Amino acid sequence: QKICVLFGGVSSEHEVSLMSAASVIRNIPADRYEVIPVGITKKGRWLYYPGPVANLADGSWEQYPDCVPAFISPDATDRGIVKCVDGAFTLQKVDAVFPVLHGKGGEDGTVQGLLELAGIPYVGCGVLSSALCMDKAAANLVMDAAGIDRCEWDYMTRAELPGFDAVADRLERRLGWPIFVKPANAGSSVGISKAHDRRELLDAVHLALAHDTRIVFERFVTGQEVECAVMGNDGPQGTLPGEILASQEFYTYDDKYLAGTSRVVIPAQLAPEKLEEVRVTAVRAYRTLCCTGLARVDFFVEAGTGRVLLNEINTMPGFTDISMYPKLMLHAGMTYGGLLDRLIQLAFE
Ligand code: DAL
Ligand code: MG
Repeated sequence: QKICVLFGGVSSEHEVSLMSAASVIRNIPADRYEVIPVGITKKGRWLYYPGPVANLADGSWEQYPDCVPAFISPDATDRGIVKCVDGAFTLQKVDAVFPVLHGKGGEDGTVQGLLELAGIPYVGCGVLSSALCMDKAAANLVMDAAGIDRCEWDYMTRAELPGFDAVADRLERRLGWPIFVKPANAGSSVGISKAHDRRELLDAVHLALAHDTRIVFERFVTGQEVECAVMGNDGPQGTLPGEILASQEFYTYDDKYLAGTSRVVIPAQLAPEKLEEVRVTAVRAYRTLCCTGLARVDFFVEAGTGRVLLNEINTMPGFTDISMYPKLMLHAGMTYGGLLDRLIQLAFE
């Protein structure tokens, strides 16, 4: 089968996607699948890229001489990638697309919508779940309605900035200090900060507003950061959760991808019944937010109270060499190739 792997993208997680896609392309079983790599530049240009995988991570793939413009047509009669070679359009048929894209314009339902229109099966969550999980405010509202426990939180829009003092009063009362400030739509901890007082809160709000027009605030939870990998369509299964040992004040972008200083422990250092509670809650959240294919569900387990608090769901979790999702699946007994094979097959179910 021909699998188009989409990588890059316009989001702040472009570089993470390059690393994830390199890892996916290297591990897709070559005896079963032919990979058709299509990269999306930060400016949103789509390019068919027939070069070596090694050129992905450092971004040099964009300069590869044989790159040609390529796009997915929403015309559902010809399923594939349209390549533009010397001014002529040719159709490269594909059986499915694996959008190894994180964040805006990739993990948020937009690419999924395009693929729906084009009638091409794709790996992972559909339009609704992708869009919902990408927007932390919308996801939190739905999970609150479903009674899935999470830490106290609040949100504001850019339009509330002139009356910020009133918002700050409310946050101080409801959440206490420190307060986590996050753009509603962002990933990999980009644009996130921890505010310890009002001055830092305002700075954090401005930083978050550079990424989105809506901001989510959360009470700071002292405890363990644990993540569960879930896979499946109608009968999703969750793995034993793993734990992040962050080396910095919280699990930051640098910590995740640059310094490589965070460590992962599988299973998380929790009592067996807590591990089970995390796993069951992860599957419940997955179903509640209509996920299909895969997602990684992130939690805090609060010190002292032992409360299992849902943090967020990532519908296209990182697939880099150090990423938790593949690590959890490998720990559960799968091979990397077997995992990718299963995810691709779920796209056809
Ligand atoms: N958003 C990144 C890729 C993750 O959650 O793994
Ligand atoms: Mg994320």
